[in-house]
Amino acid sequence: MWFKKWKEKRKARKSKRAAINMNETSRDIQSPPETRYTEDYKEYTEKQYGGAPADNSIPLREMPSGEETKNEVTMDNNINVAALQNLLGRRSIRKYDTERQVPKELLHAVLLAGQYAPTAMGKQSPKIVVVQNKEVRDCISEMNDEVWGRGIDPFYGAPTIIVVFADSNIPTYVQDGSLVLGNMMNAAHAVGLGSCWINRAREVFQTEKGKELMAKWGLGENYIGIGNLALGYTVGDGPKPAPRKEDYIVFDE
Ligand SMILES: Cc1cc2nc3c(=O)[nH]c(=O)nc-3n(C[C@H](O)[C@H](O)[C@H](O)COP(=O)(O)O)c2cc1C
Repeated sequence: MWFKKWKEKRKARKSKRAAINMNETSRDIQSPPETRYTEDYKEYTEKQYGGAPADNSIPLREMPSGEETKNEVTMDNNINVAALQNLLGRRSIRKYDTERQVPKELLHAVLLAGQYAPTAMGKQSPKIVVVQNKEVRDCISEMNDEVWGRGIDPFYGAPTIIVVFADSNIPTYVQDGSLVLGNMMNAAHAVGLGSCWINRAREVFQTEKGKELMAKWGLGENYIGIGNLALGYTVGDGPKPAPRKEDYIVFDE
């Protein structure tokens, strides 16, 4: 089976990896281009809010206060500010504690949030595969990097990988699977875990190796990889959010 051969080849791959300057590489991982904006962010928040929030959260400046609203919806009663702050405060994490596995109860909270994502016509087209077995986790990481071609762990050391598939017989399978991933990322943040959507699930699980893994998990070829989730405990503070585009929202009033 390819998995055994893969294990044998692993040593060779490791020495190839050693040839890469890992220090330089991990610095790249921690601050990919989209997260190198701390200065911009500072300037932006100075202008917008009079200063960057110390706790990496975003002020809910758009939320109505009690006085501003006529319909008596205030921050104190009907609005779940904590839930909104959770959505605003989640970031993509690119450095994980490799030694600290995600505990079962937190994992289940994340999975439950995924299961309860909306799906078109309630068809529940996605499947969620949780990988905590280190050998399988490393194997998926290498398969992903074979597509990516950067010679690094695309999962940034996260000890848990969750792969979301969806049934391509359902026309909305991509949207359904994407919402599952979105829910899980937000839930991860809510329970104190870091996460990051990692691309290339489609390509990885269309390879022979990928198909073998899918067969092992009981997934037919009608299932397509929508996305992977790196999940684990964050090392460091995580990145700051990028300023939003000025014309992100269009109102037609
Ligand atoms: C469809 C999709 C694919 C992504 N793929 C990757 C990926 O392969 N590697 C990665 O480090 N981040 C990936 N991300 C994370 C984005 O880079 C990240 O969401 C974006 O930079 C905004 O940062 P934030 O999530 O912290 O707000 C992906 C996000 C999405 C939605």
